[in-house]
Amino acid sequence: MAALPTLHHRLVTVRGVRVRDARAMERALSDNRAWLSPWEATTPLIRLGGSDAKSSIRSLLQAAKQGSALPMVLIQDHQLVGQLNVSQITYGSLSSASLGYWVVKSAAGQGLTPVAVALATDYLFFEKGLHRMEVCVRPENTASLRVVEKLGFRYEGFRRRYIHIDGKWADHFCFALVAEEVPTGVLARFEKGAVPAGVSTIPELDWVKARNPMSLPPR
Ligand SMILES: CC(C)(COP(=O)(O)OP(=O)(O)OC[C@H]1O[C@@H](n2cnc3c(N)ncnc32)[C@H](O)[C@@H]1OP(=O)(O)O)[C@@H](O)C(=O)NCCC(=O)NCCS
Repeated sequence: MAALPTLHHRLVTVRGVRVRDARAMERALSDNRAWLSPWEATTPLIRLGGSDAKSSIRSLLQAAKQGSALPMVLIQDHQLVGQLNVSQITYGSLSSASLGYWVVKSAAGQGLTPVAVALATDYLFFEKGLHRMEVCVRPENTASLRVVEKLGFRYEGFRRRYIHIDGKWADHFCFALVAEEVPTGVLARFEKGAVPAGVSTIPELDWVKARNPMSLPPR
């Protein structure tokens, strides 16, 4: 991946993370610990908490250099208010990636995340030739389920104990878009109010699965 892009919208600027964002990132994460930790992926590439933000950002930038990640931050009024990280970027016959995000509590509810997700997805589809973008959300995360629903990410299925979150394996609902579904772009479709209804709907059977954790053998 070449230089990370800067993507502008009147609500939010989404730009590549920089090592000098470490202090603002640490502050945002520590001030919002209770808000973020239930949803925080506990993988080394995404976790930026504690005193290690600088080296975590360096790891993200290394992954970006190798072309497997697009690590971005959300900027509003010159302040870092969130993070959007595209990981597992693969090209070739898969040409797919996975996207995660958070905003600080004080910036929630202003529609920043849907815009940021749309900007990043459009960039990767139309500037970088990616074909598919996936977002996976814990069943309990009503706010994040609204983000994928607003943008019309298509429900693909339930994945049992799929991602390690806040220290444990957590079930996820997975959603995706492929480039052909959004020929005019994710952002344009969203802003035109042209997102098709019902594509993000989770079937009742999957809600039943989510309410019933997998029974595990005694340790
Ligand atoms: C999920 C999250 C990224 C959504 O970002 P956002 O920029 O607030 O997105 P939106 O403004 O579109 O709001 C989405 C939904 O959040 C909920 N919401 C709105 N304001 C809120 C607030 N102040 N506090 C909590 N939830 C709020 C609403 O359900 C809203 O849907 P609506 O617009 O239909 O009412 C944000 O809530 C967040 O960072 N949460 C903690 C981390 C997280 O869950 N990350 C995602 C892991 S998959």
